[in-house]
Amino acid sequence: MGEYGVTGKACLVTGAASGIGRATVRVLVADGARVLANDVNEIGLATLREELPEVGTVVGDVSSPADAERMVRAAVERFGRLDVLVANAGVIPLGSALETTVEDWDHVLAVDGRGMFLTCKYAIEAMLADEAGGSIVCVSSISGVAGQARQAAYGPAKFVASGLTKHLAVEWAGHGIRVNAVAPGTIRTEAVEAVAEQPGGAEYLATMKLAHPMGRLGEPAEVAAAIAFLAGERASFVTGAILPVDGGYLAR
Ligand SMILES: NC(=O)c1ccc[n+]([C@@H]2O[C@H](COP(=O)([O-])OP(=O)(O)OC[C@H]3O[C@@H](n4cnc5c(N)ncnc54)[C@H](O)[C@@H]3O)[C@@H](O)[C@H]2O)c1
Repeated sequence: MGEYGVTGKACLVTGAASGIGRATVRVLVADGARVLANDVNEIGLATLREELPEVGTVVGDVSSPADAERMVRAAVERFGRLDVLVANAGVIPLGSALETTVEDWDHVLAVDGRGMFLTCKYAIEAMLADEAGGSIVCVSSISGVAGQARQAAYGPAKFVASGLTKHLAVEWAGHGIRVNAVAPGTIRTEAVEAVAEQPGGAEYLATMKLAHPMGRLGEPAEVAAAIAFLAGERASFVTGAILPVDGGYLAR
């Protein structure tokens, strides 16, 4: 068994072209997993294939039922089965309740909420097909566990990720399917670096750094390691857990 117990496992990682998703693909592949990487960003997936030619890619939007079903089917066609889903794809807009429009709300809930539901739904269906069980890791957030300012749509969408994790864990435990989540603090990904360019973004990031007791932002590889642990056999009796990877943020 590799470090995380994912050797030979058939994995689908959504939102894998950058940030936490890409770092997760690296860790899973290094541990001997077989990975199909999804994203809406075709160019990002092409650079991932250059870095890791053994990784398959599938372009698709997790918020679209047809695309979500197609990406799970592509994993089953490639590997003959699906053992692991890392439901990571998401958008991270900042905005207060006054700044957030109905369109913003619908978009964030469609990608971060509905997209996570749809990929879990089709993955569970695939995992049930051979009765070998499986493991799902949803990427929630500290914003899916505690309240924060200027996350009026994103924060509630991440509560969907946390809620899905707990409900699906209970619903499918009897079928050998574990469902867990990570709750990352602020992680130095492309998306977060882009926040610095938004109005008030640099100030927000400086405040967030100080809010983490460890006094720094996290690295994508630090979240990826936690995801790989929850995905693999080392976590065989862990389900319904929401693991903070946050430098102590939620411990305050
Ligand atoms: N970076 C952080 O500080 C942080 C903290 C907590 C949680 N998260 C969560 O981690 C996940 C990854 O975020 P990240 O920081 O790596 O961001 P990122 O932007 O670097 O990566 C997200 C990826 O998802 C893809 N994506 C967006 N919409 C999609 C869709 N509809 N279908 C398929 N792919 C789509 C993007 O193209 C991108 O490649 C998100 O769910 C985010 O909410 C991030």
